Amino acid sequence: MSERETWTTRVGFLLAAIGSAVGLGNLWQFPFKTATNGGAAFVAFYLVAVLVVGFPAMLAEFVLGRRTNVNAVDAFEEMGHRNWRLVGGFAVFTGFWILSYYNVVGGWVLRYILGSVRGAYFGDPAGYFGAVSSGPEAVLAQAIFLGIVVGIVAFGIEDGIEKATKVMVPSIVVLMIALAAWVATLPGAGEGYAFFLSPDLGTMVANAGSIIPFAVGQAFFTLSLGMAIMITYSSYVGEDDNLIFDGGVIVVSNTLVGILAGIVVFPILLTIGAEITTQTGGAGALFVATAAGFGTLPYSRVFGVVFFGVVLIAALSSAISLLEVTVAYANDNYGVPRPYLAGAAGLGLFVLGLPSAWDTAWLTWFDNFAYQLFLPLSGLLLTVFVGWIVGRDAVDELRRGADGLGSFSDVWLWTLRLVVLVALLGTLALGVQTMFLGSDAAFFAPF
Ligand code: PFF
Repeated sequence: MSERETWTTRVGFLLAAIGSAVGLGNLWQFPFKTATNGGAAFVAFYLVAVLVVGFPAMLAEFVLGRRTNVNAVDAFEEMGHRNWRLVGGFAVFTGFWILSYYNVVGGWVLRYILGSVRGAYFGDPAGYFGAVSSGPEAVLAQAIFLGIVVGIVAFGIEDGIEKATKVMVPSIVVLMIALAAWVATLPGAGEGYAFFLSPDLGTMVANAGSIIPFAVGQAFFTLSLGMAIMITYSSYVGEDDNLIFDGGVIVVSNTLVGILAGIVVFPILLTIGAEITTQTGGAGALFVATAAGFGTLPYSRVFGVVFFGVVLIAALSSAISLLEVTVAYANDNYGVPRPYLAGAAGLGLFVLGLPSAWDTAWLTWFDNFAYQLFLPLSGLLLTVFVGWIVGRDAVDELRRGADGLGSFSDVWLWTLRLVVLVALLGTLALGVQTMFLGSDAAFFAPF
């Protein structure tokens, strides 16, 4: 078998992982969850969740990937536990499932870029969303988005993913800052920032029971955990990177982009006097509520193209990481050239995504399963494996290259074994309750 690729530089790995983390979860869900859950109070909960659940869980995936240098399924066998391959398989399945409808949303974004050029949605945003979000046009747009994703992954780690994300991630940051400056001139800007960032303790206290699982779920999704992405990406990492430091950089960058997204979105919403409720965060939030305000901005069409252009780049750099999970598995196991594998996986994704593209009700159905069941279950199983089954090896691996941060490894292990485990168990229990026992949705899912 030909030699397995690695990232050419550490920055290459970091940018690819940040590209994966920064996606629709940040640009759209984070601001809305914040706004509807007590503003800055939610940000505080979220930061804690990122620190004590997301960050340690990310390191767990890193350790598995770098230790074994293979795909997310075979990694378990390499760690000496063949039966646990099933858990890797489940994480890969979860990712595949999620990507099937993420591509559909990617297709919507493409349509909105075109729609911005013509100002097509300014007059009737809800009508435009209805027209492009389902049916044959949505299928076509899904296929185009997926084609771009397959095209990048087909080139491999160095020439495909690394080169692409090196351009994409800095572009996201620069363009977001430009958008933030653009909306700062709006009359509702001050009010928007206040709404987004000032704590409402009343809301927070009244809803603490649901805010905590929200925060945990958000931390998990936005960091691309439980889908085998971080196992796969870290399997291409060189020997002595400091994983703790790298994880910290990824987590902080991801959070900053989420906050930047709120700084862009809320001035627009408050200027047009949009009512912000939990419903606004559901399907079509970005596409209806926010897009409704674009028409009032100076150079509205240019703004629309740039805004949805950023969303497209973020969605693409996340989707490629998820396609790479499946392709890495196939590439490690079958002697078939990568472009064929990427194409075959793309075809499978296209078919699985057809119901979601045809009718948004299916998209919500797929998303509910992923968000309420598959993600927390997959995360939980990974946590049990790394924390309890191979804990000592995991600590050894984390220590490698960790420089001064090595002593942090034991704290990490116990945080994983206890805090992450309990948080994910709780999230899963709530998901099961919501899905099967008919309680009110405690989460609102990203789509
Ligand atoms: N962190 C990503 C996001 O916030 O959008 C999660 C993700 C979803 C990654 C879907 C990849 C993907 F295909």
